[in-house]
Amino acid sequence: MELARTKAELQARLGPARARGAHIALAPTMGALHDGHGALIEAAARSADLVVVSDFVNPSQFAAGEDFERYPRDLQRDADFAARAGADLLFAPSVAELYGTVTEPLSATSIDVGELGRIWEGALRPTHFAGVALVVVKLLGLTRPHSAYFGEKDYQQLCVIRQLVRDLDIATRIVAVETVREADGLALSSRNRYLDAGQRQQAAGIFAALQAARHGARAGQRDARALEQVAREALADFEIGYVALVDPDSLRSLDALTAPARLLVSVTLGGVHLIDNSAIAPPGADDGP
Ligand code: PAJ
Repeated sequence: MELARTKAELQARLGPARARGAHIALAPTMGALHDGHGALIEAAARSADLVVVSDFVNPSQFAAGEDFERYPRDLQRDADFAARAGADLLFAPSVAELYGTVTEPLSATSIDVGELGRIWEGALRPTHFAGVALVVVKLLGLTRPHSAYFGEKDYQQLCVIRQLVRDLDIATRIVAVETVREADGLALSSRNRYLDAGQRQQAAGIFAALQAARHGARAGQRDARALEQVAREALADFEIGYVALVDPDSLRSLDALTAPARLLVSVTLGGVHLIDNSAIAPPGADDGP
């Protein structure tokens, strides 16, 4: 695996691959790689000739007071991890390299992704999805991949990216990868390492809440508020950001579970912001394990 620290190094490596018709895949990450990222890289490696992993803690998607400074960074470890998972190229630019500046505003152009960027996580973090959209458009523009891999773990982010690519006619196929979980159900996240042992144990309650709502649906409950309440009760020990049963594409709140939906959960635990989600099928339909 090769390491590119500059846009020029990235282009130097991608040019010949593109010229010979290689299928290029991109898995954007902020580093601190774990098996969730690994699943993206492995999926990309199965269908592409050249797998690019970007490793960049993007300042524009963090608001003041969020964890940009303390976000874990370890390039050597990430490089070893990405290589083992099947990456061919790790693109790890500095802020100055990617944005051309380190002073605000990092970019004169901003991307408003509309309602999808303002609801749920966007309501809690009003500048977040504009920052995500900006960096993803830059990475897609630099890499021009045939396909790009995103995790269902960040379900709203996945929906935002799908809409962005559609709206801006970006010629990249967006591929979703299922959430990778610990044995107790906690979704793998770089932020889990901020939890102490007690909080880590408690965090398994997030998945339990999602499962409780799914069981409610299986038992015949269709009322959206009642299903959200089931999850809320299981999250009694958490500071809840939102619990929302939503349409899986528009992410608009539903009144009743009559078609496949998504349950979105956002909580704070000991100051650590954690999100998760699950597919949820209407009573009578099979929604998997
Ligand atoms: P990051 O949090 O590093 O996640 C990178 C990618 O890995 C995202 O698509 C995310 O959904 C996926 N991922 C994280 N945990 C996962 C898990 N447990 N199972 C499956 N996939 C998982 O998301 C970002 O970075 C950034 O916002 C980014 C898109 C890179 C833009 O800066």
